[in-house]
Amino acid sequence: MTVVNTGRRYDDATHARLAADAAQVLSRYPDPRSALLPLLHLVQSEDGFVSPSGIAFCAETLDLSTAQVSAVATFYTQYKRRPNGEYTVGVCTNTLCGIMGGDAIWEDLTERLGIGNDETTADGKITLERIECNAACDYAPVMMINWEFFDNQTPESAADVVGRLIAGEPVAPTRGPDRVGTFKEVSRVLAGFNDGHANEGVAAGAPTLRGLELARAHGWTAPAYPDGDSDSDSGAAPLDAGDTTPGVGEPQSSTDRPAAGAQERSGEQEKTEHGSEKES
Ligand code: FES
Repeated sequence: MTVVNTGRRYDDATHARLAADAAQVLSRYPDPRSALLPLLHLVQSEDGFVSPSGIAFCAETLDLSTAQVSAVATFYTQYKRRPNGEYTVGVCTNTLCGIMGGDAIWEDLTERLGIGNDETTADGKITLERIECNAACDYAPVMMINWEFFDNQTPESAADVVGRLIAGEPVAPTRGPDRVGTFKEVSRVLAGFNDGHANEGVAAGAPTLRGLELARAHGWTAPAYPDGDSDSDSGAAPLDAGDTTPGVGEPQSSTDRPAAGAQERSGEQEKTEHGSEKES
């Protein structure tokens, strides 16, 4: 059974452990109060939501009032004010995903699980959310589980993934890490603690890179800036002459760079794993 922390202050051992973590987070910011967002993730990694003791901890650590902390925590949907499920299953029902099957996925999952938007199953496993566009429209319809992508879903594939989560089986997203972490585990990553999974899996899939490939095949390039002034319109700082950072789309830019440690996958493998087979 899940034990929910509803107290106003952590016990001494928990407080000391979180204080040591918080000190690491604060060391990254010149102004302590700038660390509030990661600290809210940190207390979520402890309690599974922003608990009263989590709010008190953030306020005490950053010399803020609990009202100030609560004001921030209630502004962002990633911060939960009541115990969240082990897995947040977000179904994109924005326009493109909706018409590509997101609405059908949503209806099927709400019926199967017996819960609606922002509700959690009685066993504490799944919190269901309708989500807005996740900038993954080229893989519509998309489902997110603890903010990892599950691309090109169908009601059947989505139900299969959720069923495996409920059964306690490990589940891998289409892109990104080799397995989806729990809500608490992912919250700790969002607080700034590396879990070692950041460079696993596919970074940019074939549909995302299609436009880039077409441009290269046809020799298409962006128009030159007027008068050779490369940054006069963009307002961006000019690159240093010695800067060797590759530009967007150039070889070894982030779109070209394979994920460190990831196995090379052929386009055909990619299609087999995440495309047509899933929909059959
Ligand atoms: S509409 Fe769903 S990812 Fe864009």
